[in-house]
Amino acid sequence: MTISVEKTDSTTPSGGKVPLVELKNVGKSYGNITALKDISLRVHAGEVTGILGDNGAGKSTLIKIISGLHQQTEGDLLVDGESTRFTSPADALDKGIATVYQNLAVVPLMPVWRNFFLGQEVRRKSFPYSLDANAMRATTLTELSKMGIELPDVDAPIGSLSGGQRQCVAIARAVFFGARVLILDEPTAALGVKQSGVVLKYITAAKEAGFGVVFITHNPHHAHMVGDHFVLLNRGRQKLDCAYDDITLEHLTQQMAGGDELEALSHELSRNSK
Ligand SMILES: Nc1ncnc2c1ncn2[C@@H]1O[C@H](COP(=O)(O)OP(=O)(O)OP(=O)(O)O)[C@@H](O)[C@H]1O
Ligand SMILES: [Mg+2]
Repeated sequence: MTISVEKTDSTTPSGGKVPLVELKNVGKSYGNITALKDISLRVHAGEVTGILGDNGAGKSTLIKIISGLHQQTEGDLLVDGESTRFTSPADALDKGIATVYQNLAVVPLMPVWRNFFLGQEVRRKSFPYSLDANAMRATTLTELSKMGIELPDVDAPIGSLSGGQRQCVAIARAVFFGARVLILDEPTAALGVKQSGVVLKYITAAKEAGFGVVFITHNPHHAHMVGDHFVLLNRGRQKLDCAYDDITLEHLTQQMAGGDELEALSHELSRNSK
């Protein structure tokens, strides 16, 4: 798989890399509900940041802040080292931050190429300025094959693709339209083992091509397979932030499952042996 993008991390005079995106003590309250508190993390080019957490942990709230849908009520969001406040997702896209949501915004009955260009259609340069279907078909084919997806027919409705392939089309689309940071919201949640594998390979390809990837998941195995560092959220708090080398899969799984709570549950459920 080959995707080409320029590495966009720049270096500071002291030699340290400036993260593409950084959160410093970010918090978010909805009225008197505190969804997030004191979150600090960095997203670097060529790395996968795995964000883990159970239901209601604050994962979606976190990506809504990075993707410009919501604004934080506390702390700082920095892009390329500069303090930034997005007022809309278009603002974030302008800075190269693209989000692929789990319930992909695709039109199932429309062909793959129409979905690829949805909202950004290419028109002919001369009157009557109709849609340039051939150009869009050709670009879709090229862009997908760059990411290692060989579809027999880009005229097929996108609804006929497997879940994994649809995720991959959405990622390829974000890349084509200029993303440097890819936020993937639970891309493997609804997929079986094989299809998850397709998406995980993709995530690795995107990272190797120099993108900063934020990978949200419930699944510590998936996170551990592709992540360079991990942030674990628990009831809106950052419970863990560590690099791949500093944590084993067992420890990550145990932390994710709530550690002691899981042990207590397994004790409670333990069956009496005869
Ligand atoms: N718009 C909102 N108004 C009020 N409370 C909200 C809003 N959005 C989220 N919350 C609350 O913030 C907390 C975190 O929610 P969030 O959706 O970020 O969790 P999550 O980790 O994405 O969960 P899931 O895995 O179920 O998607 C929850 O308690 C939720 O009820
Ligand atoms: Mg969520």
